[in-house]
Amino acid sequence: MAKVAIMGYGTVGSGVYDIIKMNSDKLRKSAGEELEIKYILDIRDFDDHPEKQLFTKDVKDIINDDEVSVVAEVMGGLHPAYEFTRELLEAGKSVVTSNKELVATYGSELMAIAKEKNVNYLFEASVGGGIPVIRPLSRCLSANNIKRIAGILNGTTNYILYQMITNNKSFETALSSAQANGYAERNPAADIEGHDACRKIAILSSLAAGVEVDYNKIGTEGITNITLDDVRAASAAGAVIKLIGYAEFLDNGKVYAHVAPMMIKKSSMLSGIDDVYNGILITGDAVGDVLFYGAGAGKMPTASAVVADMVDAAIHRTRRRYIGWEKADKDIVAKADEKKFRYFVRADISADTGAFGEVEAVPSAAESEKAFITAPMTASELDGIAVGIKTAIRVLD
Ligand code: HSE
Repeated sequence: MAKVAIMGYGTVGSGVYDIIKMNSDKLRKSAGEELEIKYILDIRDFDDHPEKQLFTKDVKDIINDDEVSVVAEVMGGLHPAYEFTRELLEAGKSVVTSNKELVATYGSELMAIAKEKNVNYLFEASVGGGIPVIRPLSRCLSANNIKRIAGILNGTTNYILYQMITNNKSFETALSSAQANGYAERNPAADIEGHDACRKIAILSSLAAGVEVDYNKIGTEGITNITLDDVRAASAAGAVIKLIGYAEFLDNGKVYAHVAPMMIKKSSMLSGIDDVYNGILITGDAVGDVLFYGAGAGKMPTASAVVADMVDAAIHRTRRRYIGWEKADKDIVAKADEKKFRYFVRADISADTGAFGEVEAVPSAAESEKAFITAPMTASELDGIAVGIKTAIRVLD
């Protein structure tokens, strides 16, 4: 019997509880023993819960209980999740988490403590919700040098864009229904301003690089400046606009990364990934392109990945599963201008395209404007062009 604890009984935490109850037979087979929930930590009261005796408000109950070997941290936020996780690892317990903010910010330190204590710190649910991507990237693609990662990493923004485009919903209505469905962060600014996707691309690129990619150094734009005119213009040009977490591993050993709306041609594997789904397109030098696709947010998909990590941690109680990275001894994040992109531009009909290099004309959605795709250029080069640009969006080639 593996005694486990759940820290945080919100959307994901209650999903973890439900799956452990619903699939107890399957989990017994997978883990080779039963997973028994001994504690649920939450500051709120759950007096009507059928197992209300499991609830505690004191993390010390879990830290000091030698019987508990695996803890799911699904509280979210940095504090006190960081302090609790550190104490649990130091007490010799494995911790699994869906907390991308914590993994992106303190992952290197927590992984080092787990290594020292010979326990596991697993975080499959931190990127892509229920989609297996952390373990496949770390294990199944380990024979490759990863060249590029391009992902629709935030379900809420993908859902909002899709509802706006397909169902003509306003931004606000679409956001409210993402919140009602449990997709959005407590503060949805983290979704719509791109910070959630930024943490996720930092985690994926750190895993691929083997050293920490500091998310503070990743240029991040959200979807708040995207208008229906942009979406219609992209559609007229045979493309869609998606919020993309992008990382490219440059020949000079650095990692170029950004989060921004990008123009995705209909021929791309990412173009049809709609609604709350996430899709992560990873390019390895041996395997080529592989796409990971599925439910990227929500109670049960995210809890599915958390519980699978609990099973893995229970199986490997006396052995470490090394999934992670180390602190970088130098800054490996490339400057924005080390990477050129083609840009999809909407401009006044009279605009001279001469400054944009050899442009590719594309159909325009409005008679009063022209649309084209520039030659590859840096962000600074684009900023230096004094032509009436309405919108310029990087193209995912
Ligand atoms: N708010 C996140 C999203 C939840 O919408 O993708 C999953 O990390």
